[in-house]
Amino acid sequence: MKLFGRKKGRKISSKKINLINNFLPTISLNKKFIFNQILSSKKKKFLEIGFGHGENLIKLSRDRPDWVFLGVEYFINGVASILDKINSEKIKNIFILHGDGREFLEKLPKNSINESCILFPDPWHKSRHSERRIVQKNFINTLSKVMKKDSSLHMSSDDPVAQEWILKCFIFNDCYEWNIKSVDECYNKPVIFEETKYMKKSILENRNSMWFKFKNIKES
Ligand SMILES: C[S@@+](CC[C@H](N)C(=O)[O-])C[C@H]1O[C@@H](n2cnc3c(N)ncnc32)[C@H](O)[C@@H]1O
Repeated sequence: MKLFGRKKGRKISSKKINLINNFLPTISLNKKFIFNQILSSKKKKFLEIGFGHGENLIKLSRDRPDWVFLGVEYFINGVASILDKINSEKIKNIFILHGDGREFLEKLPKNSINESCILFPDPWHKSRHSERRIVQKNFINTLSKVMKKDSSLHMSSDDPVAQEWILKCFIFNDCYEWNIKSVDECYNKPVIFEETKYMKKSILENRNSMWFKFKNIKES
């Protein structure tokens, strides 16, 4: 699968390079034995695709010490940031894949994920770039298969084109139900999440974010 977007940003410090070389392999979902061990664990599993700098996974892992967290990100600077936090806070329940979330989904067993999120996915708001958006029919069908029935998928976006695209893709997909009690919910960050670096910038630039919660109603 072709990857779009940034794989690398600013120069990474030698401390973080050391973490990528020596610490990442100890929590990497690319290692078969780690992947098998995590997926066969009885603990509840939360998956985040495109975690950016990892602020949400860090918060969730503190709030839910009895869960395991699987994070996928292909931007190496983001991976380096979360490794730094996991290492300094000695967090034991976050596991990372440096790679493509779409390929990772194909490897996950059916019914293995209890909750997931994709927050502020790259919008690709020009219609000629629509195929670059992570939310596509096949992708959300695969996500439905790996998620348990009745589990929740959280999404957000600060881009009007992406908001409409996300809503349309999920509303017209019979694997999901839009879980919403009042319109207000769409405009407020759920308390389980953190204000990330990306979100702070978006607030500063006066963009209005929308938050969606979809229930996976299909039995896989
Ligand atoms: C706009 S940023 C948002 C980051 C974070 N979710 C947040 O809310 O702060 C989108 C992130 O998704 C990542 N991403 C995009 N497509 C991805 C893919 N196929 N697999 C893994 N990560 C992906 C990008 O590298 C980027 O870090």
